Parts: sequence; C-alpha cells; structure tokens
Amino acid sequence: MKVVRTVAALREVLADTGRVGFVPTMGALHEGHLSLVQAARAAGGTVVLSVFVNPTQFDEASDLDAYPRDERRDLTLAEQAGVDLVFVPGVGEMYPDGFATTVSVTGPLTETLEGAHRGRAHFDGVATVVAKLLLAVRPDAAYFGEKDAQQVVVVRRMVRDLGLPVEVVASPTARDTDGLALSSRNARLSAGERAQAAAIPRVLQSVVDAAARGETEASLLRDRARAGLTAAGLAVEYVEIADPDTLEPVAQCSGRELVLVAARAGAVRLIDNMPLGGSR
Ligand code: PAF
Repeated sequence: MKVVRTVAALREVLADTGRVGFVPTMGALHEGHLSLVQAARAAGGTVVLSVFVNPTQFDEASDLDAYPRDERRDLTLAEQAGVDLVFVPGVGEMYPDGFATTVSVTGPLTETLEGAHRGRAHFDGVATVVAKLLLAVRPDAAYFGEKDAQQVVVVRRMVRDLGLPVEVVASPTARDTDGLALSSRNARLSAGERAQAAAIPRVLQSVVDAAARGETEASLLRDRARAGLTAAGLAVEYVEIADPDTLEPVAQCSGRELVLVAARAGAVRLIDNMPLGGSR
C-alpha cells in the first residue's frame, strides 16, 4: 500500500491506472469505512482512500479539536482492508495560503436538518473538500455512507451540477450489535452515554415499524420518536421525516421517506437515519 501526501504525488502514482474507486474519510477508521472499501474493491481496479480531517466543515472548534486522530492505526486498517493508495494531505496542501474558493450547494437541500442546525457553512466545507478530493483523485466512483444521508444528497447534487465525471455510490450504514450506527464520534462516548445512544436505532426502528403498520401522520411519528429519545436521556436536535431525494419534510408518509435524527449524548453529537420502507 502506498501513502502519498501531495496531489502531485497522487497524480504521479495514479497516472495510467485503470478504474479507480475512492473512499474519502476523515480517518478514525471503523467498520463503516471498511465496508465502503469492500464495496470499492468489489467493483475492481485501484482503491484510493483519503484521510483528511477537514477543518472547514466543523461548526464547533471543540468538535474539531476532539476529533480522533491516529494515522498509524488508520494506515494499518486501510492496508488490512486492501486499500492500494492512501492520500493523507496536510491542511496546507488542501487549503494553500490565500485559498479563496468555496463550492456551495444552495437552496433547501442545505438549509434543512444538518444545514439548519450546524449552519450552511458545514455543507460548504463538505462540498468544497469533496470537490477538491474528486479533482485530485479523479476516481470513476466515490463511496459514501448512508448514515450521512444529507451529505450523500448534497454531494450527488454538486457532482451533477458541476458535471464531475464520477459515480456517487451510497453504501448501507454499518451498525454495532445493538444497532448503533458506527461513527468515529462513538469513541468519545462514556459507558453511560453509549447506553443512551443505543436508543437512537431503537427509536428509528420503532418509527419504521409504526409506518409499516400503516401510520402515515408524520407529526405523530416525529413526536413519539422525540419522546422516546428524550426519555433515554438524549438531547434531541431534530427528528424529521423527509423525502429521500429532496430532504423536504413531509406531513403524510408514503413509505419511501427517511426518518432522520440528530441528538446529543452528553457532548457527543450523533446522527442516524432509516428508510421507512426498509433497506434502501
Ligand atoms: O463523511 C466524511 O467523513 C466527510 O464529510 C468527508 C466526505 C470525508 C469530507 O470531509
């Protein structure tokens, strides 16, 4: 496995390669990232993984500071998973002095849910860094986790609007044995907070089950979910039932929507979602 830290070195190693599958990450790799690597490997060709904790997408300095970083561990896991090339740029490589360009997906897609709670700058940071990474790696396909449902929708829109020649592949959320969605942030949960966090998939599943039994009133499903999360000791930021393509909240469910949650266990902010109609 090769490790490169500059775009120039990346381009040199990738010159004359065939198909490239790309898994962008912020490191602190877990099974969720490795399942994206597996999906990329299954499609064949060279698998590139990037590790870059992107400062421009953090809305809280404390979250950026606390974000887990362990390059040695990440490189070991990437190699074991069969990654061919890891791109580990420094902040100066991605944002050279005088950097003045922002890729901004505007409109309702970035104004609801995460955009409403973290601020629009979050998705500007994501869109800008993903655009830069895609231009650096020039992959045939890029792999993202469905846990970050809104990120997937925003990246798809950016790729479409800019005409970037890459297929955006969304892979199912990897979950712990109790259902908690795998996230680099889980490492920061105390034992008590970890137990509280396990309520998130339980409550999401109860919404899916209620919808399957024929409940269509979104406000009722939302209120029950909010009450369940609060009872578990979580501080709820939002519970929403939204169209999977536009992320517009719905009043009546048709069965194709997503139920999405953001909640804090202590200081750790967690997000998750499930499709009302079962697996996507
Ligand atoms: O999902 C993530 O880890 C990040 O948002 C991404 C896509 C690597 C961009 O920094």
